Amino acid sequence: MSAHKTVPFVDLSAQMPTVRAEIEQRFAKIIDTTSFILREHCDAFEEEFADYLGTRHAIGVGNGTDALVVALKALGVGPGDEVITAANSFIATAEAIVLAGAAPVLVDVDPVTFNLDSELVAEAVTSRTVAVIPVHLYGRPVDLSPLLALAERHGFAVLEDSAQAHGAVQEGHRVASVGALGCFSFYPTKNLGAFGDAGAIVTGDDALAERARKLRDHGGTAADEHLVAAQNSRMDSLQAAVLSVKLPHLDEWNAQRRQHAAGYARRVAERGLTDRIRVPAEHSGHVHHIYVTRVPGGRRDAVLAALRKAGVGAGVHYPRPIHLTEAFAHLDLAGRLPVSERLAGEILSLPMYPQLTEDDLDYVVDCLAAALDAA
Ligand SMILES: Cc1ncc(COP(=O)(O)O)c(C=O)c1O
Repeated sequence: MSAHKTVPFVDLSAQMPTVRAEIEQRFAKIIDTTSFILREHCDAFEEEFADYLGTRHAIGVGNGTDALVVALKALGVGPGDEVITAANSFIATAEAIVLAGAAPVLVDVDPVTFNLDSELVAEAVTSRTVAVIPVHLYGRPVDLSPLLALAERHGFAVLEDSAQAHGAVQEGHRVASVGALGCFSFYPTKNLGAFGDAGAIVTGDDALAERARKLRDHGGTAADEHLVAAQNSRMDSLQAAVLSVKLPHLDEWNAQRRQHAAGYARRVAERGLTDRIRVPAEHSGHVHHIYVTRVPGGRRDAVLAALRKAGVGAGVHYPRPIHLTEAFAHLDLAGRLPVSERLAGEILSLPMYPQLTEDDLDYVVDCLAAALDAA
């Protein structure tokens, strides 16, 4: 067992040496020009991000939840409509559907990929279905082909919640560039994170982009233009500048995350722990925003507590599926989404960020082995 140390769940300070000087320069320019919202800094990031993803438009907004709300409204989603999504997502995905005025239809997920089960999506489609929101959960791309075929057959939209999957690739395409629209959060701990809240909507469709631009800024794109009662969810220049500086590093950071994921899997196998802890199923385009394992047999909470006691920043994402939160209890789905419910009791997230060291991985897996032996 290696010497006692602390391995945090995420360490944002570890990436600062790479980006700090350039961010400070850009901040100084913003202070000098007092150009604080949208305009040149946001325009520049929008163009860079759209290019990176291989799509036509990126629209900067205030956060990832707003990105989903604005995207849904751009699609014309509103009262009387149903939107299908995954029961095990972060709650924001379902909240956005409610905020757009529609009804969330929560569907169960695949126990291996943790992502939407397309057969269950097919069963959930009704005449009111206007969109499905696949969530590339933990950074693992959803296989969109069956959902796109279903959407085409029934005439509804696919909106990719890519808040956890910046740069993830499925069949040669970056996620968010395949559905009608894609949405991102740049919450500071995301693979591409701002210095506060920020988000973006991306699309290859000119008309949807135009609508989203109006919907994020009081219903217009020119001064005193208010074509529709909308909201204020504009991206700040300071956040756009941070994101522009970080974006060129994203692929390398994601590659480091993948390397750490492989390092965890190798150590778990070498220690003979594979029947007591399941590592994420491999996918070459996975960007491991969160490294989520499974500890079956009712031992997760004991292992979690032992890891934390040993200084390892482990977590659970998320302790309750959306339908078991107070906010969505009225959907009356308890007991009806068994995979999401079972996973919530087994999932265990281990530290994951690009600057983890081999020593850190050794220590985490040493602690894990000890915790599993004691549990
Ligand atoms: C899957 C998913 N969707 C949406 C969001 C909402 O993003 P934000 O926190 O920026 O509003 C998040 C953020 O954590 C998320 O993980």
